[in-house]
Amino acid sequence: MYEAVDTRRSVRAFSDRPVPREALDRVLAAAARTPSSGNVQPWRLYVVSGEPLAEVKRRATLRARAGDPGDEREYPMYPEEMGAPYSERMAAAAAQRYRALVIERDDPLRPRKIGVLNSGAFGAPVVLFCYVDRVMGPGQWADAGMYLQTVMLLLRAEGLHSCPQVMWTMYRKTVSEIVGADDGLVLVCGVAVGYERPDVPALRTGRAEVGETVRFVDALPASALPAPSPQSPSPQIPSPQIPSPQSPSPQSPSPQLPSPLPSATAAPPAALPHDHDRARRVVDHLPADRAQDEA
Ligand SMILES: Cc1cc2nc3c(=O)[nH]c(=O)nc-3n(C[C@H](O)[C@H](O)[C@H](O)COP(=O)(O)O)c2cc1C
Repeated sequence: MYEAVDTRRSVRAFSDRPVPREALDRVLAAAARTPSSGNVQPWRLYVVSGEPLAEVKRRATLRARAGDPGDEREYPMYPEEMGAPYSERMAAAAAQRYRALVIERDDPLRPRKIGVLNSGAFGAPVVLFCYVDRVMGPGQWADAGMYLQTVMLLLRAEGLHSCPQVMWTMYRKTVSEIVGADDGLVLVCGVAVGYERPDVPALRTGRAEVGETVRFVDALPASALPAPSPQSPSPQIPSPQIPSPQSPSPQSPSPQLPSPLPSATAAPPAALPHDHDRARRVVDHLPADRAQDEA
Protein backbone atom coordinates (compact mmCIF):
# COMPACT_ATOMS: atom_id res chain seq x y z
CA MET A 1 0.00 0.00 0.00
CA TYR A 2 2.76 2.44 0.97
CA GLU A 3 4.64 1.54 -2.18
CA ALA A 4 1.62 2.19 -4.37
CA VAL A 5 1.05 5.58 -2.73
CA ASP A 6 4.72 6.48 -2.95
CA THR A 7 5.24 5.42 -6.56
CA ARG A 8 2.06 6.96 -7.99
CA ARG A 9 3.06 10.04 -9.91
CA SER A 10 1.46 11.97 -12.70
CA VAL A 11 3.24 10.43 -15.64
CA ARG A 12 3.34 12.55 -18.80
CA ALA A 13 5.13 10.20 -21.19
CA PHE A 14 3.46 6.86 -21.89
CA SER A 15 4.70 4.09 -24.15
CA ASP A 16 2.44 2.59 -26.80
CA ARG A 17 2.48 -0.80 -25.04
CA PRO A 18 -1.16 -1.86 -24.84
CA VAL A 19 -2.88 -2.03 -21.47
CA PRO A 20 -4.28 -5.53 -20.84
CA ARG A 21 -8.05 -5.53 -20.55
CA GLU A 22 -7.84 -8.06 -17.68
CA ALA A 23 -5.71 -5.64 -15.65
CA LEU A 24 -8.31 -2.90 -16.12
CA ASP A 25 -11.08 -5.32 -15.19
CA ARG A 26 -9.28 -6.28 -11.97
CA VAL A 27 -8.57 -2.66 -11.05
CA LEU A 28 -12.14 -1.49 -11.71
CA ALA A 29 -13.72 -4.45 -9.93
CA ALA A 30 -11.57 -3.77 -6.85
CA ALA A 31 -12.06 0.01 -6.99
CA ALA A 32 -15.80 -0.53 -6.82
CA ARG A 33 -15.19 -1.05 -3.06
CA THR A 34 -14.41 2.68 -2.69
CA PRO A 35 -16.53 4.22 0.11
CA SER A 36 -19.10 6.87 -0.71
CA SER A 37 -21.50 8.82 1.45
CA GLY A 38 -24.72 6.78 1.62
CA ASN A 39 -23.02 4.22 -0.62
CA VAL A 40 -24.47 6.05 -3.62
CA GLN A 41 -21.34 5.37 -5.74
CA PRO A 42 -21.84 8.52 -7.80
CA TRP A 43 -18.96 8.00 -10.25
CA ARG A 44 -19.66 7.09 -13.84
CA LEU A 45 -16.59 5.97 -15.69
CA TYR A 46 -16.00 5.57 -19.43
CA VAL A 47 -12.94 3.51 -20.24
CA VAL A 48 -11.81 4.66 -23.68
CA SER A 49 -9.14 3.09 -25.90
CA GLY A 50 -8.50 2.09 -29.53
CA GLU A 51 -10.30 3.92 -32.29
CA PRO A 52 -12.62 5.97 -30.08
CA LEU A 53 -9.66 7.29 -28.07
CA ALA A 54 -7.70 8.02 -31.24
CA GLU A 55 -10.68 10.06 -32.45
CA VAL A 56 -11.06 11.96 -29.14
CA LYS A 57 -7.34 12.78 -29.23
CA ARG A 58 -7.47 13.79 -32.92
CA ARG A 59 -10.43 16.16 -32.46
CA ALA A 60 -9.15 17.64 -29.18
CA THR A 61 -5.63 18.11 -30.57
CA LEU A 62 -7.02 19.98 -33.60
CA ARG A 63 -8.81 22.29 -31.18
CA ALA A 64 -5.72 22.76 -29.01
CA ARG A 65 -3.49 23.50 -32.04
CA ALA A 66 -5.98 26.10 -33.27
CA GLY A 67 -5.80 27.88 -29.90
CA ASP A 68 -9.42 27.05 -29.13
CA PRO A 69 -10.19 28.48 -25.62
CA GLY A 70 -12.22 25.38 -24.83
CA ASP A 71 -15.82 24.68 -23.98
CA GLU A 72 -17.66 26.79 -21.45
CA ARG A 73 -16.62 25.50 -18.05
CA GLU A 74 -19.11 23.62 -15.94
CA TYR A 75 -17.15 24.05 -12.72
CA PRO A 76 -14.24 26.26 -11.69
CA MET A 77 -10.87 24.57 -11.99
CA TYR A 78 -9.60 26.85 -9.18
CA PRO A 79 -11.16 29.60 -7.07
CA GLU A 80 -10.80 33.13 -8.47
CA GLU A 81 -8.73 34.17 -5.47
CA MET A 82 -6.62 31.46 -3.97
CA GLY A 83 -3.79 33.24 -2.13
CA ALA A 84 -0.89 31.81 -0.13
CA PRO A 85 0.15 29.11 0.42
CA TYR A 86 -1.86 27.53 -2.40
CA SER A 87 -0.80 29.88 -5.18
CA GLU A 88 2.88 29.39 -4.30
CA ARG A 89 2.50 25.63 -4.32
CA MET A 90 0.78 25.78 -7.68
CA ALA A 91 3.45 28.01 -9.20
CA ALA A 92 6.24 25.75 -7.93
CA ALA A 93 4.59 22.65 -9.39
CA ALA A 94 3.97 24.37 -12.74
CA ALA A 95 7.60 25.49 -13.02
CA GLN A 96 8.79 21.96 -12.30
CA ARG A 97 6.37 20.49 -14.81
CA TYR A 98 7.36 22.81 -17.67
CA ARG A 99 11.01 22.17 -17.09
CA ALA A 100 10.27 18.46 -17.34
CA LEU A 101 8.23 18.97 -20.50
CA VAL A 102 10.94 21.23 -21.96
CA ILE A 103 8.55 24.19 -22.40
CA GLU A 104 10.03 27.64 -21.76
CA ARG A 105 8.13 29.86 -19.31
CA ASP A 106 8.11 32.82 -21.75
CA ASP A 107 7.33 30.77 -24.84
CA PRO A 108 4.33 32.53 -26.45
CA LEU A 109 3.10 29.16 -27.69
CA ARG A 110 3.30 27.63 -24.24
CA PRO A 111 -0.49 27.36 -23.62
CA ARG A 112 -0.98 25.68 -26.99
CA LYS A 113 1.92 23.31 -26.44
CA ILE A 114 0.50 22.31 -23.07
CA GLY A 115 -2.92 21.88 -24.62
CA VAL A 116 -1.53 19.66 -27.36
CA LEU A 117 0.37 17.45 -24.91
CA ASN A 118 -2.73 17.06 -22.76
CA SER A 119 -5.08 16.45 -25.70
CA GLY A 120 -2.88 13.56 -26.77
CA ALA A 121 -3.15 12.19 -23.22
CA PHE A 122 0.68 12.16 -23.20
CA GLY A 123 0.55 9.15 -25.51
CA ALA A 124 -1.51 6.98 -23.13
CA PRO A 125 -3.36 4.14 -24.84
CA VAL A 126 -6.30 4.34 -22.38
CA VAL A 127 -8.13 7.29 -20.84
CA LEU A 128 -10.72 6.98 -18.09
CA PHE A 129 -13.32 9.74 -18.33
CA CYS A 130 -15.01 10.21 -14.97
CA TYR A 131 -18.40 11.87 -14.78
CA VAL A 132 -20.92 12.57 -12.02
CA ASP A 133 -24.59 13.15 -12.41
CA ARG A 134 -25.46 16.85 -12.66
CA VAL A 135 -27.70 16.60 -9.57
CA MET A 136 -24.74 15.64 -7.38
CA GLY A 137 -23.18 18.04 -4.88
CA PRO A 138 -19.74 18.53 -3.27
CA GLY A 139 -20.09 15.40 -1.16
CA GLN A 140 -20.48 13.20 -4.20
CA TRP A 141 -17.64 14.99 -5.99
CA ALA A 142 -15.44 14.12 -3.04
CA ASP A 143 -16.59 10.51 -3.40
CA ALA A 144 -15.58 10.56 -7.07
CA GLY A 145 -12.14 11.84 -6.06
CA MET A 146 -11.71 8.95 -3.65
CA TYR A 147 -12.76 6.56 -6.35
CA LEU A 148 -10.20 7.91 -8.81
CA GLN A 149 -7.42 7.75 -6.24
CA THR A 150 -8.32 4.15 -5.51
CA VAL A 151 -8.16 3.41 -9.23
CA MET A 152 -4.79 5.15 -9.59
CA LEU A 153 -3.29 3.22 -6.66
CA LEU A 154 -4.57 -0.10 -7.94
CA LEU A 155 -3.07 0.69 -11.34
CA ARG A 156 0.31 0.75 -9.61
CA ALA A 157 -0.31 -2.79 -8.38
CA GLU A 158 -0.60 -3.76 -12.07
CA GLY A 159 2.64 -2.00 -13.03
CA LEU A 160 0.64 0.76 -14.70
CA HIS A 161 0.89 4.53 -14.32
CA SER A 162 -1.62 7.36 -14.65
CA CYS A 163 -2.09 11.10 -14.99
CA PRO A 164 -5.30 12.80 -13.86
CA GLN A 165 -6.23 15.48 -16.41
CA VAL A 166 -8.74 18.21 -15.65
CA MET A 167 -7.72 19.61 -19.06
CA TRP A 168 -10.23 17.29 -20.67
CA THR A 169 -13.01 19.49 -19.29
CA MET A 170 -11.88 22.12 -21.83
CA TYR A 171 -12.82 19.66 -24.54
CA ARG A 172 -15.77 18.16 -22.71
CA LYS A 173 -18.12 18.38 -25.71
CA THR A 174 -15.67 16.50 -27.90
CA VAL A 175 -15.28 13.83 -25.23
CA SER A 176 -19.02 13.47 -24.65
CA GLU A 177 -19.71 13.20 -28.41
CA ILE A 178 -17.40 10.22 -28.68
CA VAL A 179 -18.22 8.40 -25.45
CA GLY A 180 -21.94 9.10 -25.71
CA ALA A 181 -22.30 10.78 -22.30
CA ASP A 182 -25.57 12.63 -22.07
CA ASP A 183 -26.23 16.15 -20.80
CA GLY A 184 -27.20 14.87 -17.39
CA LEU A 185 -23.56 14.09 -16.69
CA VAL A 186 -20.72 16.48 -15.83
CA LEU A 187 -17.15 15.57 -16.76
CA VAL A 188 -14.99 15.64 -13.62
CA CYS A 189 -11.71 14.82 -15.35
CA GLY A 190 -9.89 12.31 -17.47
CA VAL A 191 -7.19 9.94 -16.24
CA ALA A 192 -4.55 8.85 -18.75
CA VAL A 193 -3.46 5.25 -18.15
CA GLY A 194 -0.57 3.24 -19.52
CA TYR A 195 3.02 2.11 -19.10
CA GLU A 196 5.64 4.76 -18.49
CA ARG A 197 8.26 5.42 -21.18
CA PRO A 198 11.53 4.32 -19.61
CA ASP A 199 13.60 6.85 -21.60
CA VAL A 200 11.90 9.93 -20.06
CA PRO A 201 13.18 11.12 -16.64
CA ALA A 202 10.60 10.75 -13.86
CA LEU A 203 9.25 13.92 -12.24
CA ARG A 204 8.75 13.71 -8.47
CA THR A 205 6.82 16.70 -7.16
CA GLY A 206 7.33 18.16 -3.69
CA ARG A 207 4.85 18.31 -0.82
CA ALA A 208 4.22 20.68 2.10
CA GLU A 209 5.51 19.49 5.49
CA VAL A 210 2.88 17.33 7.19
CA GLY A 211 2.70 19.88 10.01
CA GLU A 212 1.47 22.50 7.52
CA THR A 213 -1.59 20.50 6.51
CA VAL A 214 -2.28 18.22 9.49
CA ARG A 215 -2.95 19.06 13.13
CA PHE A 216 -3.38 16.49 15.88
CA VAL A 217 -6.08 17.53 18.35
CA ASP A 218 -5.71 15.44 21.50
CA ALA A 219 -6.53 17.93 24.28
CA LEU A 220 -9.50 20.27 24.59
CA PRO A 221 -8.43 23.90 24.10
CA ALA A 222 -9.58 26.25 26.91
CA SER A 223 -12.03 27.91 24.47
CA ALA A 224 -13.90 24.62 24.04
CA LEU A 225 -14.28 23.79 27.76
CA PRO A 226 -17.95 23.88 28.82
CA ALA A 227 -18.92 26.95 30.89
CA PRO A 228 -20.31 25.90 34.33
CA SER A 229 -24.07 26.50 34.60
CA PRO A 230 -25.25 25.97 38.23
CA GLN A 231 -28.93 26.92 37.57
CA SER A 232 -30.07 24.38 35.07
CA PRO A 233 -28.09 21.20 34.69
CA SER A 234 -28.55 19.68 31.28
CA PRO A 235 -30.99 16.77 31.18
CA GLN A 236 -29.45 13.36 31.42
CA ILE A 237 -29.95 11.57 28.15
CA PRO A 238 -29.19 7.89 28.48
CA SER A 239 -26.49 6.59 26.16
CA PRO A 240 -27.84 4.20 23.56
CA GLN A 241 -27.01 0.58 24.28
CA ILE A 242 -25.30 -1.08 21.40
CA PRO A 243 -26.14 -4.78 21.44
CA SER A 244 -23.12 -7.03 21.27
CA PRO A 245 -24.00 -10.51 20.01
CA GLN A 246 -20.51 -11.85 20.95
CA SER A 247 -20.52 -10.91 24.67
CA PRO A 248 -24.03 -10.49 26.08
CA SER A 249 -24.15 -8.74 29.47
CA PRO A 250 -24.91 -11.29 32.26
CA GLN A 251 -27.29 -8.82 34.02
CA SER A 252 -29.40 -7.74 31.11
CA PRO A 253 -29.69 -10.00 28.12
CA SER A 254 -29.48 -8.01 24.91
CA PRO A 255 -32.82 -7.29 23.33
CA GLN A 256 -33.69 -9.42 20.37
CA LEU A 257 -32.91 -6.98 17.63
CA PRO A 258 -32.06 -8.11 14.17
CA SER A 259 -28.30 -7.80 13.79
CA PRO A 260 -27.38 -5.00 11.40
CA LEU A 261 -24.27 -6.87 10.40
CA PRO A 262 -24.20 -10.10 8.44
CA SER A 263 -22.46 -12.85 10.39
CA ALA A 264 -19.06 -13.91 9.15
CA THR A 265 -20.43 -17.35 8.32
CA ALA A 266 -23.59 -16.17 6.56
CA ALA A 267 -23.94 -17.13 2.93
CA PRO A 268 -23.21 -14.29 0.54
CA PRO A 269 -26.24 -12.41 -0.76
CA ALA A 270 -27.82 -14.27 -3.64
CA ALA A 271 -27.57 -12.02 -6.63
CA LEU A 272 -26.32 -8.53 -6.08
CA PRO A 273 -26.83 -6.32 -9.07
CA HIS A 274 -23.56 -6.36 -10.94
CA ASP A 275 -22.55 -3.04 -12.43
CA HIS A 276 -19.42 -4.18 -14.17
CA ASP A 277 -21.00 -4.42 -17.54
CA ARG A 278 -23.14 -1.30 -17.09
CA ALA A 279 -21.12 1.46 -18.74
CA ARG A 280 -19.17 3.11 -15.89
CA ARG A 281 -19.46 5.69 -16.83
CA VAL A 282 -16.39 18.60 -13.79
CA VAL A 283 -15.13 26.12 -15.41
CA ASP A 284 -13.34 28.11 -15.00
CA HIS A 285 -12.98 31.74 -14.02
CA LEU A 286 -9.45 31.60 -15.28
CA PRO A 287 -8.64 32.57 -18.84
CA ALA A 288 -8.01 29.51 -20.99
CA ASP A 289 -4.27 30.02 -21.22
CA ARG A 290 -3.89 30.31 -17.43
CA ALA A 291 -6.05 27.28 -16.94
CA GLN A 292 -3.88 25.31 -19.32
CA ASP A 293 -0.84 26.62 -17.57
CA GLU A 294 -1.84 25.54 -14.16
CA ALA A 295 -3.80 22.36 -14.65
C1 LIG B 1 -8.06 16.43 -10.38
C2 LIG B 1 -6.69 16.60 -10.98
C3 LIG B 1 -6.57 17.19 -12.21
C4 LIG B 1 -5.32 17.32 -12.82
N1 LIG B 1 -5.23 17.83 -14.09
C5 LIG B 1 -4.04 17.82 -14.73
C6 LIG B 1 -3.97 18.19 -16.12
O1 LIG B 1 -4.96 18.58 -16.74
N2 LIG B 1 -2.77 18.11 -16.75
C7 LIG B 1 -1.63 17.68 -16.10
O2 LIG B 1 -0.58 17.59 -16.73
N3 LIG B 1 -1.67 17.31 -14.77
C8 LIG B 1 -2.84 17.36 -14.09
N4 LIG B 1 -2.92 16.94 -12.77
C9 LIG B 1 -1.71 16.45 -12.09
C10 LIG B 1 -1.19 17.43 -11.03
O3 LIG B 1 -0.45 18.46 -11.65
C11 LIG B 1 -0.31 16.59 -10.07
O4 LIG B 1 -1.13 15.66 -9.41
C12 LIG B 1 0.40 17.43 -8.99
O5 LIG B 1 1.30 18.35 -9.59
C13 LIG B 1 1.16 16.51 -8.03
O6 LIG B 1 2.10 15.71 -8.75
P1 LIG B 1 2.04 14.13 -8.74
O7 LIG B 1 0.68 13.71 -9.20
O8 LIG B 1 3.12 13.70 -9.73
O9 LIG B 1 2.32 13.65 -7.35
C14 LIG B 1 -4.15 16.87 -12.14
C15 LIG B 1 -4.28 16.30 -10.86
C16 LIG B 1 -5.54 16.16 -10.29
C17 LIG B 1 -5.67 15.50 -8.95
